[in-house]
Amino acid sequence: MPAKVVVGVQWGDEGKGKIIDILASRADVVVRSQGGNNAGHTVENNGEVYKLHLIPSGILYPDTLCLIGCGVVIDPKVILEEIDGLIARGIDCENLRIDPRAHVIMPWHIEIDGLSEALRGGSEIGTTRRGIGPCYMDKAERSGLRMYDLTHPEVFAQKAKLAGELKNKLITSYYGGKALDVDQIIQEYTAYGQRLQKYVADVSVLTFEACRANKNVLFEGAQGTLLDIDMGTYPFVTSSHPLSAGVCTGTGVGPTEINEIIGVAKAYTTRVGKGPFPTELHDEMGDLIRNRGHEFGTTTGRPRRTGWFDAVILRHAVRVNGLTGLAVNKLDTLSDIGTLKICVAYKKADGTVLKDYPASLEELAQCEPVYEEVEGFTGDISACRSFDELPQACKDYIATLERVCGCPVQMVGVGPARSQNLER
Ligand code: GDP
Ligand code: IMO
Ligand code: MG
Repeated sequence: MPAKVVVGVQWGDEGKGKIIDILASRADVVVRSQGGNNAGHTVENNGEVYKLHLIPSGILYPDTLCLIGCGVVIDPKVILEEIDGLIARGIDCENLRIDPRAHVIMPWHIEIDGLSEALRGGSEIGTTRRGIGPCYMDKAERSGLRMYDLTHPEVFAQKAKLAGELKNKLITSYYGGKALDVDQIIQEYTAYGQRLQKYVADVSVLTFEACRANKNVLFEGAQGTLLDIDMGTYPFVTSSHPLSAGVCTGTGVGPTEINEIIGVAKAYTTRVGKGPFPTELHDEMGDLIRNRGHEFGTTTGRPRRTGWFDAVILRHAVRVNGLTGLAVNKLDTLSDIGTLKICVAYKKADGTVLKDYPASLEELAQCEPVYEEVEGFTGDISACRSFDELPQACKDYIATLERVCGCPVQMVGVGPARSQNLER
């Protein structure tokens, strides 16, 4: 079963980076297919912590080919900083490849991200302000710049001049912002393009060839199912497809190449940014989980909102991703906090019970979680190295998750390190 997809099944930050790093020990190729540096994936190895935003989490293995597909949006400055940072720590990036079709985040995208959030007043999305939405907007509008353009100076100068001048009109006359220096940007970005040129290669071809050669290929999801632009909590979502289906369009491979789809969840729920969150805890329990789980954003440092595990979301994720298994992280965070709650359905004010995640925010706003209570567990479980070593109450909690989600749990995380992942 060589081609595996790993996707987030909540609102991101489920610990995908850790799972990819672990599975990458057996992979030949790791591929990112959507999102950009709004992602922050943490990998811990021998006490060293790596926070990756664009580079696939397989990069710590010197022989693993790390690919960035056409569906990813690339901030050239950020990826170069990431490459330089890794090289400075002794990590070789010679095995990195970026698809020429991937779109480039330009300074005007970042500027417009901030300006449009400000313009939304109290109803902002709470984006990472990395220019993600505006870059995908240009891609859909067919005026974006791609990695091919960036790495061909004459093409780039001409296209960027046109795009930059148009964006300056938008920035100044619509948003009331300050015009950017387009010529200076072209000069700066041309230099980035020259440095990035050696990494550009057709990721669709490389991925297809690896799949057909029966190599182990891992697709690394970014963000999470509820942040998907179609199946998430629209409009409080990102602008790409973090679902398993996004892997196909974002890499350029067909769905028949994929054998396994693993959904990564936390043993509870977190969210950064705005938007609905039915099981959110606004009390001391929420603070306790946030502090015990160190729930602060990898990319922006914002405190993450915390709440109980929500099986309504998980069943939605099982369906829309076609999950074959789950990895449940951060079980260790829940020890010594008393009785645990799992949301199994939503109840509306009129008494209607919803088993499936509703499409509208208005309907969701009327929903209260229906909880099933499960006995809590005590003691430090972070030293457990096999599922059998876990206290019975932990095993019962996982069994309940499997029952209410309708999906087998294949891995359980009891800490951030490679060794703290219990495979079943
Ligand atoms: P990602 O965006 O899905 O890759 O997740 P992040 O890296 O943004 O956030 C997950 C955080 O949880 C990171 O700090 C990880 O090191 C940490 N982590 C992952 N799995 C576990 C676990 O099982 N237990 C604990 N305590 N921490 C974990
Ligand atoms: P990883 O891969 C958590 C959230 C932002 C905001 C919304 C839109 O680390 O799980 P954007 O900048 O994408 O336009 O912001 O999406 N968001 C994430 N939340 N983890 C992420 O990535 C996220 N990427 C985007 O907080 O609510
Ligand atoms: Mg993250």
